Amino acid sequence: MRGRHLSLRAQKALRKADTEPGPQPPTPPAPEPRRRPRPAEKPAGRELRRGVPGEPGGGRIPRPTRKAAGVARQSQRFFAPCPRGLETELAKELTELGAADAVPSSGGVAFAGELRLAWRVNLWSRLAVRVLQQVGHGRYRGEDDLYEAALDLPWSAWFGPERTLAVHTVAHASPLKSLNFASLRIKDAVCDRFRADGGERPSVDPRAPDVPLLLYLERDAYTLYLDLTGAPLNRRGFRLQAAAAPLNENLAAGILRLAGWHAGIPLLDPMMGGGTLLLEAAMQALNIAPGLKRHFAFEHLTSFDRVEWARLRKDAQAAALAPRALPIYGCDIDPAMVRAAETNLRAAGVLDCVRLKQADALTVGAPAAAGILVSNPPYGVRLQQANPAAFYRALGDALKQRFAGWSAWLLSADPELPRRIGLKATRRIPLYNGPLECRLYEYRLVTGRPD
Ligand SMILES: C[S@@+](CC[C@H](N)C(=O)[O-])C[C@H]1O[C@@H](n2cnc3c(N)ncnc32)[C@H](O)[C@@H]1O
Repeated sequence: MRGRHLSLRAQKALRKADTEPGPQPPTPPAPEPRRRPRPAEKPAGRELRRGVPGEPGGGRIPRPTRKAAGVARQSQRFFAPCPRGLETELAKELTELGAADAVPSSGGVAFAGELRLAWRVNLWSRLAVRVLQQVGHGRYRGEDDLYEAALDLPWSAWFGPERTLAVHTVAHASPLKSLNFASLRIKDAVCDRFRADGGERPSVDPRAPDVPLLLYLERDAYTLYLDLTGAPLNRRGFRLQAAAAPLNENLAAGILRLAGWHAGIPLLDPMMGGGTLLLEAAMQALNIAPGLKRHFAFEHLTSFDRVEWARLRKDAQAAALAPRALPIYGCDIDPAMVRAAETNLRAAGVLDCVRLKQADALTVGAPAAAGILVSNPPYGVRLQQANPAAFYRALGDALKQRFAGWSAWLLSADPELPRRIGLKATRRIPLYNGPLECRLYEYRLVTGRPD
C-alpha cells in the first residue's frame, strides 16, 4: 500500500486531499484473470461473500433490533482505512460496534458483517476514515484484466444509472504505469456493463460523485470497493475553524484511546489550538455519534434502507447524554485560537460542558490532583517557535513542577522533543498526522519524585 516503502514525498503525492491512508487489506488468494468474460455469466463478486456471524457485542451504542430485508442481511466484507498507527485501536472499536473478524493491517482494518453494520460504523466510528465494501477481487496483469473483471460485476444491482460515479485508484507495488488509466478502464467497464444490461449509463462526477469507487492494486492482485462513506469520516461537520496545524479528528480520537482516557478522567490540552482533542473527548463523554450531522455515499446505493437508517439515527440521537459539566479543560496562548476552539465546541453543542481559557502552557496550573494531559505542541514543520529548545525544556519543567500525579501524552513530529524536554518517556507510539510521521510520547509524572 502506498506509504510503507515509499519516501515521505512519494507518500504525500499519493495521498488524497485529506491525506487519509488508503486500504491495505489482508490479501486472500486471488483468482486468475478471466479472458473474454461473458456478461451473462455469474458475477464474480458473489464468490467473495463469506458466511460470518452477525453483530455481537454490547456497549452504550444502541443495538439494532429490527430485521433489515434483502441484501442488507447478507454478510459482506469491508475495509476501513484509518490513520496509520491506529489500526489495533480501530479493530477494537469495530468489534465494539459489532464487527466480526476485525483484522488490522497496515493502514486500516478488514472486517465482516451485514450492510447495516457498515452504516452503523459510518455513524459511530471515531477512528475510521471511511468504510469500503469489497465487491471484486482477483489477479491481474494489465488494464485489460481490470476492465474485464469490472465488466463482469453486477453494477446495476448496486446503483442506478441516474447516479454519478468516480473511480479512484491507489496502488502498492503495481506494475501499471498510469493509475489514472486504470481508473478510466474501470469507469469504462462499469458504463459498458450498464449498457450491456440494456439501460442508460451513469455519468462521471470526479469531484462529488454519488457513488465513489476505489480500485486498490497490489503487484498482481486488484480489489474493487464501493466507498460507502464519501467525504472522509473525520469531516464530522463540527469543526468550523481549524488551527494553523489542526489534528485530524480520527487521530485525536485515537490518541485519547491510546492514552486510556475515558469520560470522568480529568483531561487537559494546554495548547489546544482549535480544540480538536477536547471536542473529540466531549463528544465521546456525551456519547454523541460523530456521523449524526452528515450524509454518506451509501445513501445513494440501491441497498439503502431509508427506514432502517432513520431508526439507527434516531437511536443514536436518543443515546446522546444531556449536556453536563465535564472535567475537560483547554487553554492556548493565542486568543484567536481560544475563540476558534469556542466556535467549534459551540457548533457541537458542548461548549458549556468544558472549560477553556487563554493561558500559557508553561505557567498554567493542573485543574485536578490527577488526570491526563494530552497535546500536540507547536513544532518546526508547521509552527515556528522562536526557540524550540528552550520551549521544550520549559515545558518539561512545567510538567514536572505542576502536574505530579498526571500522565502527559504529547504528539510531535519533532525528533528533538524527547531529548529537549528532559523527561523520560514511558511509551513512544509511531503515528501519522496526515503525511507527517509523529511519535506519541507518554510521560508519567510521579508524585513526590518528578522524573
Ligand atoms: C499544533 S497547534 C495545536 C493544534 C490543535 N491540536 C488542533 O487540533 O487544533 C499548537 C498550539 O499551541 C499553541 N501554543 C504555542 N505556544 C503556547 C504556549 N506557550 N502556551 C499555550 N499554547 C501555546 C499555539 O497557539 C497553537 O494553537
